[in-house]
Amino acid sequence: MKCQAYPGEDALAAALGRIILDTIRRLPAVVLGLPTGRTPLGLYAELARLTALEQPDWSEVRTFNLDEFVGLAPSDSGSYRAFMQERLFHHVNIRPEHIGFLDGVAEDADAECGRYERAIAAVGGIDLMVLGIGANGHIGFNEPGKTLAARTHLVTLDAPTRAANALWFDGDVTRVPRQALTMGMATILAARAIVLIATGETKAEAVRAMLYGGVTTAVPASFLQLHPQVNVMLDQSLADQLA
Ligand code: F6R
Repeated sequence: MKCQAYPGEDALAAALGRIILDTIRRLPAVVLGLPTGRTPLGLYAELARLTALEQPDWSEVRTFNLDEFVGLAPSDSGSYRAFMQERLFHHVNIRPEHIGFLDGVAEDADAECGRYERAIAAVGGIDLMVLGIGANGHIGFNEPGKTLAARTHLVTLDAPTRAANALWFDGDVTRVPRQALTMGMATILAARAIVLIATGETKAEAVRAMLYGGVTTAVPASFLQLHPQVNVMLDQSLADQLA
């Protein structure tokens, strides 16, 4: 895994925003895997800013988000689909039919997960997957445990993950759904290239274990060590903790 530190969150967002726009210019029909959460907020603001400035064409771009809460419809303000609409999709000329998302209110979760896997396969897989990392080492919503699931599946969220997501629900953890649908580890690792972004000292232990620990289901992000093309982008405050 290649690892690079940036002076701050803005510099990291600027660098990754540039990489993504350059990729879209080089490969107009690129398939992106995308995260939600606090970490990519700067990235999406930067992509919106650069898109307004430089007018890159997103009309052939396809996206697949990593995960969605169970029980929240796309129109629900707490859904990850709504998060993405507000932060990115609304600002670029992506076609609605090119936006891949798990349906949190699907009646049959297993069927929905199968549909998602087939949709990703049908467009030839994900070219560039952007990931955040949980303080517990999760990627997507693949939580630490005795085993990890390979493919897109239904998960029960860990208490710290629900607490970290309370900020999207006015700080009220009781409103954070208990379950989610998430891409599995093999779905993530099948991407041709992966960029993991992490900022802030609270992620230092997870990043240390991901980079320098053994490959273990206790730290799902450690499985990225098995992938040949992973770039880890950190801010300096986190990198300082690793030194
Ligand atoms: C969200 C996702 C999660 C987050 C992780 C970090 O789509 O897949 O793995 O990337 O929980 O979240 P933040 O960035 O809020 O610290």
